[in-house]
Amino acid sequence: MARSALDWIPGELDALAAKGLRRALETIAPVQGPVVEVAGRRLVNLCSNDYLGLAADPRLRRAASDAAEQEGAGAGASRLVAGDLPVHRALEARLAAWKGTQAALLFNSGYHANAGVPAALVGRDDAIFCDVLNHASIVDGCLLSRAELVRYRHRDVDELAGLLARTRARRKLVVTDAVFSMDGDAAPLRELAELCDRHGAMLYVDEAHSAGILGPTGAGLAEALGVSDRVDVHMGTLGKALGAFGAYVAGTQPLAELLVSRARTFVFTTALPPAACGAALAALDVVASEPARRAHVLALTERAKAGLARLGFDVASVVAPILPVVLGSEARALAASSALRERGWFVRAIRPPTVPRGTSRLRVALSAAHEEAQVDGFLAALAEVLPGLPP
Ligand SMILES: Cc1ncc(COP(=O)(O)O)c(C=O)c1O
Repeated sequence: MARSALDWIPGELDALAAKGLRRALETIAPVQGPVVEVAGRRLVNLCSNDYLGLAADPRLRRAASDAAEQEGAGAGASRLVAGDLPVHRALEARLAAWKGTQAALLFNSGYHANAGVPAALVGRDDAIFCDVLNHASIVDGCLLSRAELVRYRHRDVDELAGLLARTRARRKLVVTDAVFSMDGDAAPLRELAELCDRHGAMLYVDEAHSAGILGPTGAGLAEALGVSDRVDVHMGTLGKALGAFGAYVAGTQPLAELLVSRARTFVFTTALPPAACGAALAALDVVASEPARRAHVLALTERAKAGLARLGFDVASVVAPILPVVLGSEARALAASSALRERGWFVRAIRPPTVPRGTSRLRVALSAAHEEAQVDGFLAALAEVLPGLPP
């Protein structure tokens, strides 16, 4: 007889399904631009983070294959052992120049960076102050650090000021998404930087959804707000607007050197494959030379915001191409997603624990590859679908 120690799992899956919380993979075949094929049907993709439409760009593909050709399909070892390749160094130098920092260090993904960096900066005698809507990877990294985890209400600088004034922690780390991943709104970075200065706290900003899109050179929200030099830890990803894969932390040289020695998710993992780094380098060229891409996706975002506001959705604080269409229950979000799919739009339901209970939603993500007519078409389809949704 087969082992039965895992017999509990089917019941667990049924329980998740009954609550509308079971998740499943779906294979997406890229067709062209934002059009994808899902289960044999062509749909307009409205839920990718490929905000600049670069993932399929021929320049990135070529750069990826050139890098693989020159330096191999895999790095073969961790950076610290025998995996520190020229392409890693070249990409780090480019990232530091873009961010205006002394140094940058690659991580294998945004998840790796956020999971490993907090523990390199703080420990048991310290405290981390974390916006309640920060990404799950940040929360995991905070928990791994063993520092006291103090959560403040979303973007609530006054609450944070009180918490910082009362803490007795040795070191203090304030960590925030720059643009919040499920809401598209911006952290009050200037105010956070002021509080950090006043209380001697470190400021860690995750630009996963803003790097490549916001700011005069696309360096992110800190650049857009003119506070780059007041952020201590600039974290960002290479797999979203930059269309490649991986992540980085940019900051001072001593910070980078500390992370090389202390960040477990840097030390104990095989280095990024050259192809991902080659593609990211090509993406940085495009970000520098084609600012029209970010202007276009931001103009589409304004168009979608206006349309969603007319339908009664609260999107006023959105600053990046992430539009939260909050519908409430899991059932409602799932029904909206499948009704839209029938009409040719691919936008998946986002449910707890990704978002707080009662705020299940469609997270509409736009890209520079979309056209105005697609935004208008989606808004019309959504207006058609809304009246038929369950309560
Ligand atoms: C704010 C934020 N940080 C980090 C990550 C993780 O990045 P990656 O997909 O590169 O692991 C994500 C997304 O998934 C995110 O939304």
